[in-house]
Amino acid sequence: MCGLGMMASDVTMRMMRPRTAWGGRTGCRSVCALAATFAVACAFAAAQQPSSESTKVPDRATWVRLDCMTSGCHAKLAVQQFVHAPVSQGACDSCHEAADEAKHTFELVGEGAESCFECHEDLGDALEESDTYLSRHFPVAEGDCLSCHDPHASKLAGLLSSSYRERRYGRFDEDQFELCFQCHDAELVTEPETDETTKFRNGEVNLHHLHTGADGKGRNCKTCHTPHMSRQARLVREGVMFKKWKMPLQYLPTKTGGYCGPACHSARSYDRIQAVSREKPARPPK
Ligand code: HEC
Ligand code: HEC
Ligand code: HEC
Ligand code: HEC
Ligand code: HEC
Repeated sequence: MCGLGMMASDVTMRMMRPRTAWGGRTGCRSVCALAATFAVACAFAAAQQPSSESTKVPDRATWVRLDCMTSGCHAKLAVQQFVHAPVSQGACDSCHEAADEAKHTFELVGEGAESCFECHEDLGDALEESDTYLSRHFPVAEGDCLSCHDPHASKLAGLLSSSYRERRYGRFDEDQFELCFQCHDAELVTEPETDETTKFRNGEVNLHHLHTGADGKGRNCKTCHTPHMSRQARLVREGVMFKKWKMPLQYLPTKTGGYCGPACHSARSYDRIQAVSREKPARPPK
């Protein structure tokens, strides 16, 4: 398509690694669209004009050199604060290839996350290291990147498709974490006491509610969780940043609760069946 006039070598970022088979796409917002062929509505302005010598579609030799962005058709794709590097460089063909040149239709070069892993190799490789990563987020393992990222550009940092509060502290508001609540039930946070909406509870005291401060000064989700995968269980991150200092965060799940090593506070345990006293010093489970 756009990149037809561009040699593969022009796409400097693209790694010429063979594509891995990555078929899964069953996340909440399914990425079936990834596999679908789609027609690009705009085509070339010229193609929509009545055919005459001056306005008809230029022959291939001419139009393959047109740039999809500067020709005006798809310029709006990049009118956002954060633009994906291959898009800003016009490397559309790293993800799209022509299905029918005459009809100006395109299909995606890979299914699911295949095309993403061409460049984001580290992430693709890490996902295959099942021994290193104790937890892998379901949509990530399924290659459903688009439920959280826009492939072209976004008004949100990290090319995120919906809100995910950056500020570490703040009053909890469901709208600030739409990214997560499109799949998870916000009740995992909002119920102060529960025996079902979350496993992160001590007896019936909801520790998500407590930490995210549904009532006041709360932490954001990423204080504790990574979005893709973690060497620890439950996507708990390995460390918490405080200014430039990374405090290790040791998390160990048990059958009925969990243990959090000293980090933000002294070591603590929680148990869903036998609530643990807050006064009691906690030891790592054996
Ligand atoms: C990183 C991969 C990637 C790159 C690079 C990329 N696209 Fe896309 N594009 C996608 C994916 C994935 C979809 C399907 C989106 C969906 O299903 O929500 C898509 C959809 C589209 C669509 C149809 C739907 C829409 O969002 O409007 C158009 C038009 C399009 N791309 C044009 C372009 C152009 C022009 C470029 C180059 C400037 C480009 N794309 C670069 C991945 C990419
Ligand atoms: C042709 C190469 C290429 C492809 C294909 C590609 N990316 Fe990227 N992506 C990049 C580069 C280069 C960066 C910038 C990296 C950096 O700054 O360290 C980037 C950055 C990102 C970022 C971080 C943006 C930010 O502002 O922090 C996200 C998220 C991302 N890509 C997601 C994806 C997803 C999802 C796909 C598949 C739909 C994909 N990428 C496919 C090259 C690519
Ligand atoms: C559940 C939502 C979610 C899914 C699904 C997801 N990401 Fe992300 N991704 C994020 C968030 C949130 C960040 C920002 C990291 C942060 O702020 O800690 C991020 C950051 C990134 C970055 C920037 C570098 C980094 O690792 O921080 C890249 C690249 C990226 N994602 C690629 C992908 C690819 C490729 C997929 C699909 C295999 C994917 N993501 C699936 C939420 C997601
Ligand atoms: C596309 C849907 C989707 C999105 C978006 C999503 N999740 Fe998930 N997440 C799942 C599914 C499915 C599971 C596995 C089933 C379960 O345990 O509920 C899961 C599991 C989890 C787990 C438990 C992991 C484990 O190993 O036990 C955590 C923690 C989590 N998600 C956090 C988040 C956070 C934080 C966000 C927002 C950045 C988010 N999720 C966004 C679908 C999603
Ligand atoms: C103080 C750290 C912390 C914060 C902040 C936090 N979580 Fe969790 N979360 C955990 C722990 C620990 C677990 C594991 C509970 C268990 O299985 O015993 C968990 C589990 C989960 C699960 C799996 C289902 C469940 O509730 O048991 C999801 C989904 C999840 N968190 C999403 C979120 C979202 C979304 C946010 C932000 C609104 C968030 N978390 C904030 C520590 C945290």
